[in-house]
Amino acid sequence: MRIYDIISHKRDGHELTDEEIRFFIDGYVKGEIKDYHASALLMAVYLNGMSDREMVTLTLEMAKSGDMLDLSMIDGITVDKHSTGGVGDKTTLIVTPVVASLGAKVAKMSGRGLGHTGGTVDKLESIDGFNVELSPDEFISTVKRTGICVVGQTGNLAPADKKLYALRDATATVGCMPLIASSIMSKKLAAGSQCIVLDVKYGSGAFMKTKADAEELSAKMVEIGKMAGRKMAAVISDMDTPLGKNIGNTLEITEAVETLRGQGSADLREVSLTLAANLISLARDIEYSEARQLCENVLDDGSAYKKFMEFISAQGGNAEMVADIRKLPVAKIIHRVIAPKSGYLSNTDAEKIGSASVILGAGRVNKEDSIDYTAGIILRKKKGDKITAGDVIAEFHTNDEKRITDAENVFFEAITFSEKLPEKTELIYKVIR
Ligand code: URA
Repeated sequence: MRIYDIISHKRDGHELTDEEIRFFIDGYVKGEIKDYHASALLMAVYLNGMSDREMVTLTLEMAKSGDMLDLSMIDGITVDKHSTGGVGDKTTLIVTPVVASLGAKVAKMSGRGLGHTGGTVDKLESIDGFNVELSPDEFISTVKRTGICVVGQTGNLAPADKKLYALRDATATVGCMPLIASSIMSKKLAAGSQCIVLDVKYGSGAFMKTKADAEELSAKMVEIGKMAGRKMAAVISDMDTPLGKNIGNTLEITEAVETLRGQGSADLREVSLTLAANLISLARDIEYSEARQLCENVLDDGSAYKKFMEFISAQGGNAEMVADIRKLPVAKIIHRVIAPKSGYLSNTDAEKIGSASVILGAGRVNKEDSIDYTAGIILRKKKGDKITAGDVIAEFHTNDEKRITDAENVFFEAITFSEKLPEKTELIYKVIR
């Protein structure tokens, strides 16, 4: 078999055989197939697409290219959730203790933030002492003991995807539905859980800008997971506007704790409960409505909050500090952003607000950048709120005064005012099972 022939097959619009896909992934990971060949094949896929069979084979081959986690030592049903990324998205911190309170086992690998979106690993590391780098044995024993463990991605999880993603990034082939679906699902399948719920965001702050694209991606990922024998659901939710009110690492921990104590924003609670209830419905094989009731019960009676504290302590985090959120570190400078005019807040563009938060120090522009855990934004007003000139719309938290002007310029690009109440956005567009 020759890579040259595989490229020309795809270029001419033919379906690749399973053997051809296997040959490509195996050869590329071993370094026998060069970047220029891989780039040409990726571009041919970008232009001609892939059938469902090709996409499933590609996903499985990428998943098998490194460690496949074996979670069979864990009693009970293992569950995982994945978000395609957003601004203010701290749902993992709420969903995982909710489902673990109901007996599901969460063995989760999460990522760091990049660009305008945040990452769960950074949020957890903002808690004094929290350790996301556990050995495989510690990972499994923590899940067995507390029902939850969240760690950073190990180096050898789907290495084919890691290599191909970097190449796609450099060759304008990221935005291709079968490649995105297989990239995300290869990591989820390698991570080993039996039930997977995907939180697929759409809108300005999301990877998928339209509902239609989010729906197409969701359907593809659900199909791949099912064909690989996993129980799957995808929740398609709005990311035109940030989720909740706090953006930034420590600030998001604070809002997650508030939500677990029954005081959080309504939108954050709703998305978290929808994700948790879908996981429980899959794990226990029960109707969504029954699962939803169970999730609401453990959120409202404090069980999920107690589980969250157990989870933080089990991974070395200072739970006392989290229990009294006034003890969490706060940025030195808190700058109030004042409304220049009256009206309704008709848009709060998630991507731009995420970027303003990065400018304040909450995120990275490059992978190796360090971040300021206490930096970020608290939205005091959200889309649809009535504003009077002079009201505080947001609070900027930062340790570097020089960053405020730039962040404020970007923030003001993100918001618009109108005289009329704007149309309500649909928070959950669809659930695909
Ligand atoms: N996230 C991934 O993991 N892969 C993609 O291709 C796009 C987003």
